[in-house]
Amino acid sequence: MPTIQIRTEIPGPKSRALMARREAAVPRGPAHATPIFAARAEGAVIEDVDGNRYIDFAGGIGCLNFGHRAPRVLSAVRDQLDKFLHVCFSVTPYESYIAVAEKLNALTPGRFAKKTLLVNSGAEAVENAIKIARAFTKRSAVICFEDAFHGRTLLAMSLTSKTHPYKAGFEPFASDVYRIPFAYPYRNAPGTSAEEFAHLLEDAFKRVVAAESVAAVIVEPVLGEGGFIVPPKDYYRLLQEICRKHGILFIADEVQSGIGRTGKWFASEHFGIEPDLITSAKSLGGGFPLAAVTGRAEIMDASGIGSLGGTFGGNPVSCAAALAALETIEKDGLLARSIAIGKRFEERARAWQRKWPLIGEVRGLGGMCAVELVRDTQTREPADTETKEIARFCYEHGLITITAGTLNNVMRILVPLVVTDEQFDEGLGVLEAAIAAVAERKHAAMSHA
Ligand SMILES: Cc1ncc(COP(=O)(O)O)c(C=O)c1O
Repeated sequence: MPTIQIRTEIPGPKSRALMARREAAVPRGPAHATPIFAARAEGAVIEDVDGNRYIDFAGGIGCLNFGHRAPRVLSAVRDQLDKFLHVCFSVTPYESYIAVAEKLNALTPGRFAKKTLLVNSGAEAVENAIKIARAFTKRSAVICFEDAFHGRTLLAMSLTSKTHPYKAGFEPFASDVYRIPFAYPYRNAPGTSAEEFAHLLEDAFKRVVAAESVAAVIVEPVLGEGGFIVPPKDYYRLLQEICRKHGILFIADEVQSGIGRTGKWFASEHFGIEPDLITSAKSLGGGFPLAAVTGRAEIMDASGIGSLGGTFGGNPVSCAAALAALETIEKDGLLARSIAIGKRFEERARAWQRKWPLIGEVRGLGGMCAVELVRDTQTREPADTETKEIARFCYEHGLITITAGTLNNVMRILVPLVVTDEQFDEGLGVLEAAIAAVAERKHAAMSHA
């Protein structure tokens, strides 16, 4: 049976009926990238309620690096179901929470003593990382970046850059948050060096907020929602040096880039840095909600007993799934697979770029890869409606994708790393057909004008 199999028009009748119920019962706030409803999933393939099959390039937004229903995860979860579901780590602790903490303490970069706090979501991890940094430094200001995404809760949203749809109407934001430009060479002064970009931080200490008031700088090593932007190699080393000089903590938000996505456990490793605190989530939980803050032991212990945590943080089922997910990435060679996926994507995407000026930039780190789409390679006008059309073409032809970018013009790949070469090529074939349809229609329209 081929991986892609379309039985009905998309969306099919069952998905359409569910969408009508969704519209009546669920607010508009939570968006959906596709109008199709999932029935089951396996590996890198999703089947919808109408029996249509899709290759999944989204992985639930990067939460399934080890694949849908990874066998080790299923078996660990079944074992846990037979023992206990929830007792609350703050009431009756259990071993699996400690085992996840030990594992993250060992896997995160930095050869120093570490401790890990478990929570429920990426936003909660970000909130806690800032709380911990403030408690340790006894300072309040936080510096974040343009094009960053850190979540939707009050402080995380305040750290997030993009106004629509994430911030508009939700003012006032949390105070003492300051934003500087990110090293995004394609758009922010092309040709700017890592040193010049890093210097913007020193400059902010003169113009925006005094260094001695700053608790932490928080940054995604590869910007996720902001468009899979990879800064120059030396950028973070330079930023971290500046932070150290001023007693400021360096927090790497690895919610999207961590847990093997870029071909290393954490993207920070590609840049040779050792962040003071690292947040992880998404693929950490094996498909269940789980997030973490991992950091230097003395920093993590700065806040008092009872100051951190929450009812469900480090839920036993999530912990069991997490341990099995991490084992799967390790034993099944998924870090190397991520690098191979990145290479396969890059080769194909470079050929698209040679053919169609719609592809402005091809970029990525391992299996965290993307293309940025533009109307004109000179002006770099963002091709946002075209990006939307491409995503639509994809799901109508059996490929689930998600877009990204502050300017809504990036197609990003977060495919489960267990995808086979055949499935990946098939998915890339659909993406290529989508880009071709949009690029050639634009070309035809221009030649008739
Ligand atoms: C880098 C980063 N930080 C934080 C978050 C927020 O995570 P969550 O949606 O689990 O709250 C996300 C989500 O996409 C993210 O990509």
